[in-house]
Amino acid sequence: MKTPPQWLIFVCIIPLLIGVHPVNGQQRNRDMDNFIKELMAQMTLDEKIGQLNLVTAGEVTTGEAVSTDVESNIKEGKIGGIFSMTSAQRIRAAQELAVNHSRLKIPIIFGLDVIHGYKTIFPIPLGLAASWDMDLIQETARIAAIEAAADGLNWTFSPMVDISRDARWGRISEGSGEDTYLGSRIAEAMVRGYQGDDLAAYNTLMACVKHFALYGAAEAGRDYNTTDMSLHRMYNEYLPPYKAAIDAGAGSVMTSFNDINGIPATANQWLMTDVLRKQWGFNGFVVTDYTAINELIDHGLGDLQAVSALSLKAGVEMDMVGEGFLTTLKKSLEEGKVNEADINRACRLVLEAKYKLGLFEDPFRYCDEARAQQELLNPTHLAKAREAAGKSFVLLKNEGQLLPLKKQGTVALIGPLANTGSNMPGTWSVSADLENTPSLLEGMQTALGSQVKILHHQGSNLLADTVYQDRATMFGRAIPRDKRPEAEIIAEALEIAKGTDVIIAALGESSEMSGESSSRTDIGIPDVQQRLLAKLLETGKPVVLVLFTGRPLTLTWEHGHVPAILNAWFGGTETGKAVADVLFGDVNPSGKLPATFPQHVGQVPLYYSHKNTGRPLAEGQWFQKFRSNYLDVSNDPLYPFGYGLSYTTFAYGEMTLSTDSFKKNDTLQVYVEVTNTGNHEGEEVVQLYIRDLVASVTRPVKELKGFRKIRLKPGESQRVAFDITEEDLKFYNTSLEHVAEPGEFAAFVGTNSRDVQEKRFFLVE
Ligand code: BGC
Repeated sequence: MKTPPQWLIFVCIIPLLIGVHPVNGQQRNRDMDNFIKELMAQMTLDEKIGQLNLVTAGEVTTGEAVSTDVESNIKEGKIGGIFSMTSAQRIRAAQELAVNHSRLKIPIIFGLDVIHGYKTIFPIPLGLAASWDMDLIQETARIAAIEAAADGLNWTFSPMVDISRDARWGRISEGSGEDTYLGSRIAEAMVRGYQGDDLAAYNTLMACVKHFALYGAAEAGRDYNTTDMSLHRMYNEYLPPYKAAIDAGAGSVMTSFNDINGIPATANQWLMTDVLRKQWGFNGFVVTDYTAINELIDHGLGDLQAVSALSLKAGVEMDMVGEGFLTTLKKSLEEGKVNEADINRACRLVLEAKYKLGLFEDPFRYCDEARAQQELLNPTHLAKAREAAGKSFVLLKNEGQLLPLKKQGTVALIGPLANTGSNMPGTWSVSADLENTPSLLEGMQTALGSQVKILHHQGSNLLADTVYQDRATMFGRAIPRDKRPEAEIIAEALEIAKGTDVIIAALGESSEMSGESSSRTDIGIPDVQQRLLAKLLETGKPVVLVLFTGRPLTLTWEHGHVPAILNAWFGGTETGKAVADVLFGDVNPSGKLPATFPQHVGQVPLYYSHKNTGRPLAEGQWFQKFRSNYLDVSNDPLYPFGYGLSYTTFAYGEMTLSTDSFKKNDTLQVYVEVTNTGNHEGEEVVQLYIRDLVASVTRPVKELKGFRKIRLKPGESQRVAFDITEEDLKFYNTSLEHVAEPGEFAAFVGTNSRDVQEKRFFLVE
């Protein structure tokens, strides 16, 4: 490589030293514009359509279709992007085909589902959300980008920001739970983490916000199912996280599979153009979900040519796997069903993304075997994964301060999730090294060394039904089946537990019991494991349930019988060590639920920010005739949104407001003093909710509007302050105007969405 002359280095450095960027944003845009104009002037129609084609390398597939003829299609300029290749070497080889053998040498964009880590796997997104720690979440996304980008990738299909209030839906595990505000803050943090402040940097990925839109509101919690929702609910509750991610600068958006009020998202012009582009000013590109254009045929919108044209016109730019664009757009253009401007728009936006990623400057910027060697699974990343896992765990119950345990004696670790490394990363960890991920047992052994003796037994199968278990352990996540009668297996486990001081039961879901196409109607711990748990409790020994799950579960029986429950979700690569950290007191749990845990699946959808109805229950009542309730189960959740215990206790002083009435341009402060009244240093998430008491439309009984995570030593106090401004009181009214209506409001402060104090105030003109 030639070294640039000294004077050039000097000239380039001066502006950096004095804080002036050599090219400002506008100039960069002009340069990009000119570059793409010139490039597109040389492109044939086929080459333009080629840019709209995203194929899979076939390492990871989530549908029936797999791309073919990838190599020859690259050379012919028929491929704009490839996803699911996972090595710098393979990506370099594919990129070489594009930039050395295709006519115009246009580089390829390389994507992957880097959802909660690349090789270093962090907790599943629902678990990360339970940390309520935005810096931590941003750091996990940053590390994911550093690792993936070293391996040649430049685009991730994340963040997944679909609000979900239905625990039957398996993909609730991939998002941030039920809440609009928390979900929006996390969406921003993740985009910042992936994209950094320069998309063209060698260690950043372009984010892709998905699944636009409302995928998490699938009817009956059945994946890919229809959604039908009022605009009012959409704008107030479901759309804000997508918008937050776009406002944070996300470069791309993925359409969702579902039907929305009669028009599937992938063909929905109102959504993709009116909302996304015109109302929100999005200027990146839109990619479909996996074969989502082809699926419009089954939705009943026409044949492949018709639905491909519909999708392009609706505002889609890139077609994932289905090749509808590749095979039909030319014909549609000839027949006048699409026009050249539609194709040009799509091609330009895809090329712009490549330009912003710096791929035209250096198509191999992201492939660096040496960097990959250094970055993947490096000790700093693993340390962050251990920290993140510990912070994601939620202590659901701790009767008699059973936890933390003492680092001594003998522990029985029993259950089908106790020794399965491949299940620890959790769903949607497609690039994880499953074979080499330590199991809970292995991780705990490493963390505890010889201080604690751990005896292990599987205790039961994951599920009694073999076929169900096969479905629940796909993609290399098999859990060995013990074919002996259940009683025999349990008897053996009890024998092992006999001489131990405490039993740790590792139970719950396998990682593939949540995630895509993994909806469940019964959201309890599987029966066969529950029977094991009952037997373990009968021994009279202290039992700690370490729960694995990708969704809120119904734990009513467990809550009634098991003294200590730690929800570990799926904690990623370092799950085992992090569980040891928390169980044995090196880390004090601080996670808070990002989704309500119901008492019974029949209550679903159950969420804290519901409307009041015209017949709410009287305070303290759980059944009243002709009131909104059930005959058999109260309306209460088992564990409310925002709930989670600590080894210490926190006392809240009386909340105060700076004023009881404030004007639209002013700010109102809410104060509360929180004291650590226990014996352990710990973190608490102080939560602020509001309610609009009288408005032109009905408003939720509570809405999260702020939170602070604070760390306090025993005896220490901190005064926490929240600002409330007009912005926090705004909502979309029936004309979809974003307004704050003067009148009376309630502010609530507390440790979760249920246990709060309340003070009233007025917003005045
Ligand atoms: C999923 C997306 C994912 C895509 C590519 C689809 O089945 O719905 O979330 O990004 O596959 O792997």
